[in-house]
Amino acid sequence: GAFTEKQEALVSSSFEAFKQNIPHLSILFYTLILEKAPAAKGLFSFLKDSDGVPQDNPKVKAHAEKVFELTRDSAAQLRAKGEVVLPDAISKHLGSVHAEKGVTDPQFVVVKEALLKTINEAVGDKWSEELSAAWGIAYDELAAAIKKAMS
Ligand code: HEM
Repeated sequence: GAFTEKQEALVSSSFEAFKQNIPHLSILFYTLILEKAPAAKGLFSFLKDSDGVPQDNPKVKAHAEKVFELTRDSAAQLRAKGEVVLPDAISKHLGSVHAEKGVTDPQFVVVKEALLKTINEAVGDKWSEELSAAWGIAYDELAAAIKKAMS
């Protein structure tokens, strides 16, 4: 069915909670990704030469914030028009970056799980199945748009 106003509100408000604590949450996000997909480490310019996830590298925070922000934007698009449409230039750019790195479908699933756990940590006792499902749908639609641009 359609993405509801309530789902969009759940995603937006928890994105704000995420933004309050990006230094901690971005490190958690990459730690979770690398636990499940150790091979992904070598793909990231800011991870490949470090031991674990670097604590003070601004690139770690910037990239994590982008992923969460684009997912939040996708929730808004799903609510407004029922689909995620990336602007042409962004679509081409994200398609080529991820294709060049050889990002796989299972890695998209690992990133989704890490994103959901990170949101869980961000919102604490405000977490609900409904909140998690709303993020999951927005992420899946965004991931589908990126994968389409990769092919
Ligand atoms: C780069 C978003 C999924 C690996 C990027 C960039 C963005 C982005 C915005 C920066 C592009 C630039 O250089 O300007 C997303 C979103 C995703 C997603 C929204 C899911 C919906 C993934 C997955 C992987 C991945 C599943 C693999 C584990 C990478 C890598 C880079 C990158 C390796 C290059 C980073 C670097 O070395 O600087 N992504 N990404 N991404 N992404 Fe993703």
